Amino acid sequence: MTNPFIKELMNGKENGSFLALDLGGTNFRVILIQITDGIFDKEEVEYYNIPKHLFTEEGTKLYDFIAISIEHFLTNRGANDRHYDLGFTFSFPMHLEAIDVAIHTSWTKSFSCPGVIGKNVRELLSSAIQRKTNLDISVTCVTNDCIATLVYGSYFDKRCAIGLIMGTGNNACYIENTSNIHKWKDTERSESAVVLEWGAFGDNGVLDFLRTKWDRIVDKKSVVKRTYTFEKCLAGKYLGCLVREALVTLAQEGLFCKGSTELLETHEHLKTSQISKIEAEAFRDELFYTKDVLSSYLELEDVTDDDARIAQYVCGLVSYRAALLLSLVTSMLLNRMDRPHCTIAVDGSLFVHHPRFKPLMELLIEQNAPGKSFSFLTTKDGSGKGAGLVAAIENRIRNS
Ligand code: BGC
Repeated sequence: MTNPFIKELMNGKENGSFLALDLGGTNFRVILIQITDGIFDKEEVEYYNIPKHLFTEEGTKLYDFIAISIEHFLTNRGANDRHYDLGFTFSFPMHLEAIDVAIHTSWTKSFSCPGVIGKNVRELLSSAIQRKTNLDISVTCVTNDCIATLVYGSYFDKRCAIGLIMGTGNNACYIENTSNIHKWKDTERSESAVVLEWGAFGDNGVLDFLRTKWDRIVDKKSVVKRTYTFEKCLAGKYLGCLVREALVTLAQEGLFCKGSTELLETHEHLKTSQISKIEAEAFRDELFYTKDVLSSYLELEDVTDDDARIAQYVCGLVSYRAALLLSLVTSMLLNRMDRPHCTIAVDGSLFVHHPRFKPLMELLIEQNAPGKSFSFLTTKDGSGKGAGLVAAIENRIRNS
């Protein structure tokens, strides 16, 4: 549970061009936004693929790569000759001590770069920009992706009170009465956003009753072992692995596909994006794509219609469990906040591309938070652009 130190939201007096960075999944984004009197004039987004070796090498190399990419982005647009305030969405566990003091506490998802844990994320990025570029950039804030999504969502709908990320990783933040938060000193305001880092829920064993043998196998093969229990049940990084491991067991028991299962047994070979497409096909009661994944992509032999239906059934079960778990914790927030209406700002590939997540969650939340009025607001790239908005708000506060 972290205090994101967001003092205010947009008030219509923000002006200027601001940079935002979004680091969290397999690629990262550089974003330039232009704001006039609190209104978005222009936004440009570019994705950069992070080379595989940088996920595990010394952390400063990752920061150097980020700095070089910002320079590439600005130089390409002929915009590298002026000063920018930059907001950094850093989607990993950190302890925030101020809006620009973010102590990185651990890696999650696919990252395990040594040498940066315990350090201030802002300092690491600022040093890399100085070391590797001639750019004039002030890193004015570090934020988590769910907070950035909430801030971005609030720009469109003032009733936003939850920011939810359903992508490679999973996390949420919500608005709490500060009188309920006893351990924070920063209690001048009546309400504050709280970052939950709920991916780590269950690390103390409270979710053991629902973990299957496939959850344990996925944990053993993950980069960050014996932690992030909840995230491993439902995030995009892990759903493909869970389905694959269950299918391996069925094949070993002679209940699914014949022949070599070498690719089926290859860790991370089946992607969550493929699970989303299989689910979409199951919805249409077709088998063509599913059979193609099994025979061409996983190179299984003599794939029958029954094999394809089994694969679709497993994808359905794993997806349903993920949607149910996420709906339960989201319902808990809605019940706790008890607002007349709560808009849930969401970003992340799983929510956007999986055909059943949104309808399932709408149904399951209705059952578990009866009578609570809520709606989802999908915010494309909100997890990045929101950091630009936070930088704009900080800039306005500083200059007022
Ligand atoms: C990280 C969170 C992040 C979430 C979604 C998790 O693995 O620990 O900080 O918000 O992924 O990107």
